[in-house]
Parts: sequence; C-alpha cells; structure tokens
Amino acid sequence: MTSGSNHPGSLTGLRPTYRVVEGLRMPCGFPPEGLHSALSYKPRANDIIVSTYPKCGTTWTQNIIYMLFNNGQPVAPDDSIRELFPHLEEKGREFIEQLPEPRLIKTHLPLPMAPFNSDAKFVYVVRNPFDCAVSFFHHTRGFTKHYDFSNGTFADYFESFIEGAVDFGDYFDHLMSWYAVTGQDNVYFVTYEALKRDLDREIVRLGRFLGGVAEQVANDPQRRAQVVAASSFDHMARDQLRWASKRPEGQTDFVRKGIVGDWKNHFSTDQLRRLLEKSEAVTRGTDILDQWSDIYAEIRAACSA
Ligand code: A3P
Repeated sequence: MTSGSNHPGSLTGLRPTYRVVEGLRMPCGFPPEGLHSALSYKPRANDIIVSTYPKCGTTWTQNIIYMLFNNGQPVAPDDSIRELFPHLEEKGREFIEQLPEPRLIKTHLPLPMAPFNSDAKFVYVVRNPFDCAVSFFHHTRGFTKHYDFSNGTFADYFESFIEGAVDFGDYFDHLMSWYAVTGQDNVYFVTYEALKRDLDREIVRLGRFLGGVAEQVANDPQRRAQVVAASSFDHMARDQLRWASKRPEGQTDFVRKGIVGDWKNHFSTDQLRRLLEKSEAVTRGTDILDQWSDIYAEIRAACSA
C-alpha cells in the first residue's frame, strides 16, 4: 500500500473521457449504433455469453472457452479474439447474428440492459473491486483513443471509479444485478481469484456447464493440459494483438500483470477505506463479499492499522 509522497500520482483533476449512449458511459471509440442494436439482440439456445464488468478476467475466460470449443487449440498469433468471440455492444446485433454456431459472445452490459434469457448460457466472471479498479486504471490510461487519459493518475481514476462514473457504469451495480441470477441453471459464476487458485479445476467445472464438445475437451487430460498451458499468463502475454489493439509506447500491455493484490501498490489507506465502506454498504444483506473474505480481512486490517 502506498501513502503520502510515494503515492503513485496525486489528484490532478483529470478525468477520462466517455461517450454516453442509452444512459451508459461507453469508450469513445465504440460506435453508438453497436449499443443501440445490441439492446435488441435475442440470444439463441446455443449462444455462450461471457458477461463481465471490465477488467475482471473477460479475455482470459474467452480464451479458455474458445479453446474448449476448438479441440484445445490456442488462438493463432495472427487471429483476434475480437473477431472470434466478439463484443456485442461494440460490433452490434447484425455482426453477432451472422456468427457460426455456437455463437461465442462477450458483453459488459449490466443485467437490466443485457440480452438475458433462459435459452443461452451465460458465464459471469468477477474480480475483487480493488484489483479491478487498478487494472481498469491502467486500461484507461493505455487506450488513449477511447479515454484521452494517458497522463491521468490513479488518484484521478479512483474518483471516477468509486462514483461509478466510468465506462459500463458502476462496478457494484453490475455485480449486484448479475449476482441476482447466478443461481439459475444457465448461469455460471466464477471469480478471477478462483481461476488463479486452481485453473485446472475451474476448467473442468466450466466444461461441465458448457457441455458437448467443450465438456469432452475439458475432461480429456491431454487436451485440458493444452488449454491450461495456453491460458497461462505467460502464454497469453505473448502475441498480444490476439487480444487487443496496439497500445501506445510507454503504456502497459493489455495482459499486464495478472496477479491478485496489485491494489497494495496503488491504493492509499484513505482510498482503501472509502472503497471498503462502499463495498459493505452496497452489498449489505448478501454474501457476495465472502468470495474474497481473505482480501477483505487484509483490507480491514490495513484500514484499522
Ligand atoms: P491486470 O491489469 O491486473 O494485469 P479483462 O480481460 O476483463 O479486460 O481483464 C484483464 C485483466 O486480466 C488484466 O489484469 C490481465 O493482465 C488479466 N489477465 C489476462 N490474461 C490472464 C491470465 N492468463 N492469467 C491471469 N490474468 C490474466
């Protein structure tokens, strides 16, 4: 944890730029028509939809699911997950409708806006909000064309994040809306931290949920080992154009650090306390924070030290 003069950047008042579409902040490079048309997309029975708040392990999960449906074969260096497993509200309904079945789709929409039904399968991935905020800060600095924030500090970004004034809205609105449907048979819930703890086990569980060829690959030790290897951080850190467009010189890579606990390198005690208080207030009456009881214990201890 950082404090005082070592704090990585103090408040300069700079805020990222967004475009508001349908009442939701969106990255500036996304065509508004993408979101307009996404709202009327009707998921079909074979659709697999990865739903996340940004920076919670979306690309990692997409990569795993892609391989489970492709006999354990990794995404080729000159292929792009953005075409193979497109983002609904970036590409729009028409693009998604012409994908071969099973359609592999990504969305960051909060549940009230998402095309949710009981026909498709939804994979919801979430990460503790402290590491999510850090990762989202680096993402926002790195994609200059979307956010015009390349000189922003973590302190600046934190103010936008805690207000929920960032793209795709408030972290907790997203989590609370989707958490309410995680008990349904067609919704699979997993945390970034669980993937980090035991990827092999989570791939078997995910395969069971997806069924068919994905389950066969996940249950076959040799092909599962291939999937585990090609979804490791080190493997995914190679050939990064597979996941995202090129970042400007001097900005962090898209597949950046891949750890649990980078919040310790970015948050001041005051910021920790504020996000802790918001977490507790917003999730009161639910067991959501139990997903991260160890992390929350550490943060409470840091706040009371
Ligand atoms: P960091 O910025 O903390 O490193 P998303 O795909 O939702 O945008 O999430 C991106 C985050 O997932 C980044 O976190 C990225 O490094 C991390 N990530 C991507 N692939 C990963 C992998 N194979 N193992 C662990 N973390 C990974």
